[in-house]
Amino acid sequence: MKDKVTATKLAELKRKGVKIAALTAYDCQTSQLLEEAGVDVILVGDSVGMVKLGYENTIPVTLDEILHHVKAVRRGLGLGARRRPLLAADMPYLTYELSAAEAARNAGRLVKEGGAEAVKLEGGMEVAPVVKELLRVHVPVMGHLGLTPQAVHRLGGFKVQGRKAEDAEKMVTDAKVLEAAGIFALVLECVPPDLAREITHKLSIPTIGIGAGPHCDGQILVTDDMLGLTGGAPYSFVKRYCDLRSMAAQALGQYCREVRDGSFPAT
Ligand code: KIV
Repeated sequence: MKDKVTATKLAELKRKGVKIAALTAYDCQTSQLLEEAGVDVILVGDSVGMVKLGYENTIPVTLDEILHHVKAVRRGLGLGARRRPLLAADMPYLTYELSAAEAARNAGRLVKEGGAEAVKLEGGMEVAPVVKELLRVHVPVMGHLGLTPQAVHRLGGFKVQGRKAEDAEKMVTDAKVLEAAGIFALVLECVPPDLAREITHKLSIPTIGIGAGPHCDGQILVTDDMLGLTGGAPYSFVKRYCDLRSMAAQALGQYCREVRDGSFPAT
């Protein structure tokens, strides 16, 4: 397992200037594809709620729903020495905010029952005690600042965060407090590129950006978005590497036509 990506290995990649490639997965087939492609970090994001479960935002996602998807993703990864990516799971809304003990119990389930190797949770210095408690029970934690979708109602929508000087300053302080609490990496979502660069330079742990410009130590996208599977207009920061939705629509339409005109199955 010499090549295995671990929470501690990610800081080494940052020191060496090697960029980190992260993507989301919610099922076994996708995790196989991502592992084969050489992705470093696979995140079972609570974006599963919007991408796969049809929720309007990530707030309704439950621990049991995430757990179900973590188990599927984990089953898709290679066994033992063949398993390379770090598998991280999102902690859904209200599974970690109410008490550190409850957070530890919930994170523990993602690790013990789901096979996750780390968890991610949203928030600034207010979640530092939770980070410390999770580390006490040996669960590595990834932070998440900027646009934190579980706070969408307080933030007033899905929009760039940290544009005002005082918000930017607070984000830098939050990042440092989280690093001191022990997070091993920090997701920066929808943050102005200059602010993402400043935070990246001030931390010794890696930053992983999404809509945060090119200066982060790594990048993450929702796999369904970058493969062109998600319907509707993508966020401006999403690069569509292919258009699987159009390809699928074409294939499905052809199947319907061929069944109806009798050309499938062939005689
Ligand atoms: O839920 C998710 O997929 C995420 C990533 C986009 C960072 O939090």
